[in-house]
Amino acid sequence: MRMLEIHGATWYLLQQFFSPVSNQRTDEYGGSLEKRMRFPLEVARAVREGAGEDMVISYRACLLEPWEGGFTIEDTLALAPGLEEAGMDIMHCSRNARNGVPVVPDLYNPAFERLGKTVGLSLIANGASFEPARVEAYMDLGADFVAVGRAMLADPDYASKALSGRGGEIVRCIECRPCTYMTDSRCPDDAYPDGVPESLSEILEVASRMKTGGYAPTQKKRVNLDDPVDEEPEGSAVS
Ligand SMILES: Cc1cc2nc3c(=O)[nH]c(=O)nc-3n(C[C@H](O)[C@H](O)[C@H](O)COP(=O)(O)O)c2cc1C
Ligand code: SF4
Repeated sequence: MRMLEIHGATWYLLQQFFSPVSNQRTDEYGGSLEKRMRFPLEVARAVREGAGEDMVISYRACLLEPWEGGFTIEDTLALAPGLEEAGMDIMHCSRNARNGVPVVPDLYNPAFERLGKTVGLSLIANGASFEPARVEAYMDLGADFVAVGRAMLADPDYASKALSGRGGEIVRCIECRPCTYMTDSRCPDDAYPDGVPESLSEILEVASRMKTGGYAPTQKKRVNLDDPVDEEPEGSAVS
């Protein structure tokens, strides 16, 4: 299967057109909801035309912008049928975490339920699935798929361990975040088992000073997932 994803979330260009905060245009690409949707839908149609019928296409969108003047779930519910008509197969729903929205699986509910009634698109949820239980929680909320990022970087065998009942062996991502800032986007603990190279020291130093946690390259936690979670992460700046 071949699949591609159009990134229309987290303030990339397409979201900038969709958002009434960033889109200040007064021509046919700005103003009303219909006009703000024009460019994202034109791109979706053009990608489908160029990619052909065999390509599975996902459109990644944020569900809402929870700040003054931002777009709402209602706007997203209006966009979704347009995406379906444009030939999209999947809607990958982000939370805008990069802009400070915490990882709250409940954000997807009732949005997913309403999207499920509005369109036939498959729905992807994502965010902070450090334990397989969160994947299941997203599925319970109506996700057809769950995108897993950092958990798979920290332990490439995350999925096979979870599926084969070896969840307790998962090497848990400790949410320290330097992977997000490294040019090769790898979890340093796995990429450099013998120690992180000097050339990365600057970026690790930046990561260690970040608000939600420092980086301890030799202290990757290996948790027993049957143990109770001491502290649920409230938020994540990664999305
Ligand atoms: C190393 C790394 C690089 C990423 N780069 C991008 C990016 O360029 N653009 C983006 O929108 N999201 C990016 N993300 C966010 C992911 O798309 C995903 O939304 C995020 O990792 C949430 O899933 P997770 O909590 O399972 O990691 C990145 C995540 C990681 C871990
Ligand atoms: S660098 Fe930190 S946040 Fe990134 S995958 Fe590794 S443990 Fe997780």
